[in-house]
Amino acid sequence: MMTKTIVSVVGARPNFMKVGPIERQFKNCSNINHMIVHTGQHYDDLMSGVFFDELGLPKPARHLGVGSGRHGEMTGKIMIEFEKVCLDIKPDLVIVVGDVNSTIAAALVARKLFIPVAHVEAGLRSFDETMPEEWNRRLTDCLSNLLYVSEPVGMKNLEREGIPIKSALLVGDVMLETLSLFLPGIQKRRRWVDFNLNPKNYILVTIHRPSNVDERDDLELVIEILEALPGKVVFPIHPRTRNRLDEFGLSDRIKRMRNLVLVEPQSYIDFLSLLEGCSIILSDSGSVQAEASFFDVPCLVCRENTERPIYCEQGSCRLVGRDLQIIKLSVQEALDGNFPKSTDYVKNLGKDVAKKITESIQDFLK
Ligand code: UD1
Repeated sequence: MMTKTIVSVVGARPNFMKVGPIERQFKNCSNINHMIVHTGQHYDDLMSGVFFDELGLPKPARHLGVGSGRHGEMTGKIMIEFEKVCLDIKPDLVIVVGDVNSTIAAALVARKLFIPVAHVEAGLRSFDETMPEEWNRRLTDCLSNLLYVSEPVGMKNLEREGIPIKSALLVGDVMLETLSLFLPGIQKRRRWVDFNLNPKNYILVTIHRPSNVDERDDLELVIEILEALPGKVVFPIHPRTRNRLDEFGLSDRIKRMRNLVLVEPQSYIDFLSLLEGCSIILSDSGSVQAEASFFDVPCLVCRENTERPIYCEQGSCRLVGRDLQIIKLSVQEALDGNFPKSTDYVKNLGKDVAKKITESIQDFLK
C-alpha cells in the first residue's frame, strides 16, 4: 500500500483519550502518515494541553484556534478552518471521535470533499433531543463511511436508522483501552493525598452538562444534592459550571460548604486516581460511566438517560437524575457495599480496540 495520510480530529477534553491508542497503533505502521488536528474547542491548559503531555500525544499538526462560542458559531468556524486544512493536506481519510461539536463539524467538511470518514464511538444514542451531543452523534454516523461501535446496542441503533450495517464494526470502548494503558501510573498517583483525604473515604463529583448547570433552578438543585452528601466531597469544577455559578451568584454558597474540596479540572492521571480512590462518584459525564465501571466504583449518573446503557445494565452505574431521595438511598447502598458490580464483559470492553480500528481502516484504504 502506498503511504496514506490520515487525519484524526480532536477538540474537546474527552477526545484526547480516544485518539491516544489509535495514534500508538499508527505510529508503528510505516505506510501511514497519521496527523492530529486540534480544533481548539477546548483551549485552557487544564482542559487540553496537560492531556497531550500526559497521554504522550504528538503536537497537533494543525491547530484551528476556534475557541468557545454558541453552537452554530463554533461548528461553523471549525468547518471553515478545517476545510482549508483538508484542501491543503488532502488526507486519504479523516477520523472523528465521540460526539462534540468538533466531531460533527469535521465529519461534514470531510464527507463533502469526498474524503472518507471513520467515526469512533458510533451508534450511541441517548434518545434525548435536548442534548446537543445527540444531534452530533446521529448526524456524524449518517456521514461516516466506517463506524466503530463501542457497545452492542450501538449496532442495533445504527440498523434502526438504516445506516448500512456492513460499514459498522463492534470494537469496544477505546476510552477503556486508554485507561488500561495508563493503569500503572494511575495506581501509583494517589492524588487524594494532595487533598489530605483517605482512600474510599470521599465522594467524587463532576457536573458540567447544560441540563444541570445552564438554568439557575437546576444548578440550585445540584447544589442541594452536594449539600446532602455525607463526608468529604471532591469537586473538580468544569469551566462551564464555574462560569454559571458566578453568573447566578451561587459561588459563595458553594465555597461555604465545609465538606467540599473544590478543585480545578484535573489532569487525566490525577482524575482517574481520584476516581479509583473514591467511595462513590456522582457525575453527569458520559465516559466516566465507563471508567467508574472499570474500577467497580459506584457511579450515580446525574442524568435522566444515557447513551451508554451497558454501564448501567452491566457496570456499576445507576441513573439517578437530580432526585434527592434516590441519591440518598443509592449513596447508602453504595456505602453499605451493596451496589451492583461490573461484569467481566464490561471490564474487558477496552481490549485491542485501537488495533481493530486501525486494521479495519488499513483494509479499507487498500
Ligand atoms: C463539551 C462537549 C461535551 C463534553 C464536554 C467535555 C459539545 C456540544 N459539548 O462541552 O459533550 O462532555 O465538552 O468537557 O461539544 N471553557 C473554558 N475553557 C476551555 C473550554 C471551555 O473556559 O478550555 C468554557 C467556556 O466558557 C465555554 C464553556 O466552557 O463557553 C463551554 O465549553 P464548550 O466547549 O462549549 O462545551 P462544554 O460544556 O465544555
